[in-house]
Amino acid sequence: MKCKITNKSIDPFMNFGEMPIANGFLDKKDFSNEFFFKMEVGFNEDISLFQLNDHPKPEKMFNENYPFFTGSSEYMKNHFSEYAKFVKKYLKSNSKIIEIGSNDGTFLKNFIKETDKLVGFEPSKNVADIALKHDIPTINSFFNKESAKKLKDFAGNTDLICASNVICHIPDLNELIETIDMLLTSDGTFVFEEPYLGSMFEKVSYDQIYDEHIYIFSASSISKIFKKFNFELVDVIPQITHGGSMRYIIKRSKNEISKNVKKILDYEAEKKLDKLESCLNFKMNCEKSKDNIVEKINLFKKEGKAICGYAATSKSTTILNYCNIDSNKIDYICDTTKEKIGKFSPGMHIPIKDMSYFHNNLTDCVYLFAWNHKNEILDKEKNYKGEWFSHVEL
Ligand code: TMP
Repeated sequence: MKCKITNKSIDPFMNFGEMPIANGFLDKKDFSNEFFFKMEVGFNEDISLFQLNDHPKPEKMFNENYPFFTGSSEYMKNHFSEYAKFVKKYLKSNSKIIEIGSNDGTFLKNFIKETDKLVGFEPSKNVADIALKHDIPTINSFFNKESAKKLKDFAGNTDLICASNVICHIPDLNELIETIDMLLTSDGTFVFEEPYLGSMFEKVSYDQIYDEHIYIFSASSISKIFKKFNFELVDVIPQITHGGSMRYIIKRSKNEISKNVKKILDYEAEKKLDKLESCLNFKMNCEKSKDNIVEKINLFKKEGKAICGYAATSKSTTILNYCNIDSNKIDYICDTTKEKIGKFSPGMHIPIKDMSYFHNNLTDCVYLFAWNHKNEILDKEKNYKGEWFSHVEL
């Protein structure tokens, strides 16, 4: 495939093998038709961009069955309320606000009293319907030039565009930035948060890589990409969400740049996050991590211990398929999402059970797939006396 920004071929440096859709939880009857793609990653040194070589079409992932709801985590609800407070400084009286990938409206809900001119774009119908039920104006569509053009009074008139964990899902970054350019006022602000390349490398949390995450960004890549469109990265603030994310603040180039930007860019240069070299080191660490987790699970099984998984996260699909861990190793995965319960995990077909099943069928060990929600989960499950483990340090 070609990099959408530079039009140069992506030269993959690592192959994770055949991968199913990360959120493609399925019924037994659909096992034989399951979709797989070859998951390879490459790095474009010109713009320091870590990206999937090939990826399924977004319509395959974000449809009427998308099983992710922002409001399903108390921690994330708090995070979005804090995030909303942070961005208020970019608003004037009666500013227009857009959220890209507005999910169930958890974030936009914070602005309902501030302005009557807000709108979210959400392609997955089942989550968009929840937002609409709560009176959050939502367009059930992908965010692109065509859908944005329909919002005539937002064109060149929008003070704030926000997004969370969604820009890395959008294949055509050129069109995305051109659409943002079309909508923002001359001193408008685009704020977005994404899983951070630096955290992924440090924790060897390669489970951040899956079909939906076409890009894993860093400040270096964001700064270089937006400069091409006369935008500037004016501030950057690390976040602890999703196991280490970054909040990027983008304005048109005439704006002042915070000292944070230079600090992070210097850090990234020191860690060689802008060079292929750091990727090759990451690849080696992923291979070691795979060997370690497979060995750990084999040892548990040799000792006769039963294992279950906690939280059927999208991330777990990468781990289970890359490490070839199936229901001979993990009896079941428990989860709170009703759309996943009763189904089977993508690729490895481990049964997904509800939380009461977990409490009634406790295993000796629990693989914590939602390691990024560790505090919330370990606090909820403090009566469980067995062993928690994961491929990242808990
Ligand atoms: P994600 O990592 O793909 O966003 O998915 C998070 C999954 O974790 C989602 O299916 C809900 C599940 N979950 C639980 O089952 N219990 C919990 O306490 C939390 C925080 C998440």
